[in-house]
Amino acid sequence: MTRTQVGIVGAGPAGLVLSHLLHLQGIESVIVENRSRQYVEERVRAGVLEQGTVDLLTEMGVGERMKTEGLIHYGVELRFQGRGHRIDFQTLTGGKGITIYAQHEVVKDLIRARLAAGGHIHFDVEEVSVHDFADPAGGTAATSPRIRYRNDGAEHEVVCDFIAACDGFHGACRPSIPRGVLTEYERVYPFGWLGILAAAPPSTTELIYAYHDRGFALHSMRTPQIGRLYLQCDPEEDIEQWSDDRIWKELQVRLASDGWKLTEGAIIQKGVTGMRSYVVEPMQYGRMFLAGDSAHIVPPTGAKGLNLAVADVQVLARGLKEFYTTGSKELLHRYSEICLRRVWKVQRFSWWMTSMLHRFPDENPFDRRRQLAELDYVTSSHAAAKTLAENYVGLPMDKI
Ligand code: FAD
Ligand code: PHB
Repeated sequence: MTRTQVGIVGAGPAGLVLSHLLHLQGIESVIVENRSRQYVEERVRAGVLEQGTVDLLTEMGVGERMKTEGLIHYGVELRFQGRGHRIDFQTLTGGKGITIYAQHEVVKDLIRARLAAGGHIHFDVEEVSVHDFADPAGGTAATSPRIRYRNDGAEHEVVCDFIAACDGFHGACRPSIPRGVLTEYERVYPFGWLGILAAAPPSTTELIYAYHDRGFALHSMRTPQIGRLYLQCDPEEDIEQWSDDRIWKELQVRLASDGWKLTEGAIIQKGVTGMRSYVVEPMQYGRMFLAGDSAHIVPPTGAKGLNLAVADVQVLARGLKEFYTTGSKELLHRYSEICLRRVWKVQRFSWWMTSMLHRFPDENPFDRRRQLAELDYVTSSHAAAKTLAENYVGLPMDKI
């Protein structure tokens, strides 16, 4: 049995950022993760960091590699009807930009920092379950919240004051909340993304979001040598049906633009991801707080999932700091309400980008003309472009 102040389930961006923020505030935590360190450090996911995320990681002292290896972008391109239109973040947002730095690199930096500071992360554990978190007052030591798991054949227990459920969409924490407490809001999209990592120098200096008759395509990147590209596909698409040659041919068609050339290269990794919008309310129950993908999912078109996870744990860390320094639970009580204001704005933006840029199986010619008009509007109106830009670089954190 281990005693700590905050028991954290999940060593993704939410759990790791929370644990390190708490450490910097003098609050102890223990992280329990059901995958290996190598697995979480190599899991290919997001790549776009908002300025606020970059600033926070820098302030936390984990921004050194990001500063040297991250690529700063001050715009994105929307490409439709074979022509590109730049959304200039710098002029539209007063100098803000985004940083391209892979999520698994952020995770590596955070794990290294946690372990260097003597932090506790238990990787590769099994049968994680959460208990005794219903009582908001916390109860006695015997009825404190606890996280149970198995490791190397033995039973373990982390007894804590609070549980942070940072275990992603398929984690164990959210389903442990009694039925009837949570309300779920969900939209599942009738398409997915086929994503590749390619040993091909990016053919663009900024991200290209392309709307095409054959479906959406995205040209992103990881480094000056490695491209990250996506194709809209069926959510049940069989990746085995997609040879490297077929993937490049389809990308060539959907991204085509006069005088522009897409450089091909060896495909290092490929996979299909489904797309959904999902929110659970409230994001807390008793002494357990849901953060990141365990509480909400956005379709990746807005590049927001990781950033939203980081925003949640900033609010949670503030609430926990207030509790441990003054005894007041005011901020903790308002955790869900504060987070959900941002969550819903980010949901709206991610849904809007997705609706504007994808082909829908049930669409009619009216819908297609409307999408094209929307793209024309966004790329020709200063006000509309500014709306896209301020959401893409990241809305400011609410004052709390
Ligand atoms: P996760 O990263 O899912 O971490 C949860 C952790 O909990 C994992 O390590 C998991 O192994 C662990 N876990 C799960 N169950 C248990 C259990 N029972 N016990 C213990 N541990 C458990 N976001 C962006 O901001 N920008 C982007 O460009 C972007 N692109 C994306 C592209 C793709 C293809 C995908 C799939 C996602 C993308 N996202 C993007 C979303 C982003 O990756 C997620 O929102 C982000 O990982 C959320 O972080 P998290 O810590 O909440 O959850
Ligand atoms: C990525 O680089 O993986 C990426 C970029 C932008 C998105 C989604 C994913 O909207």
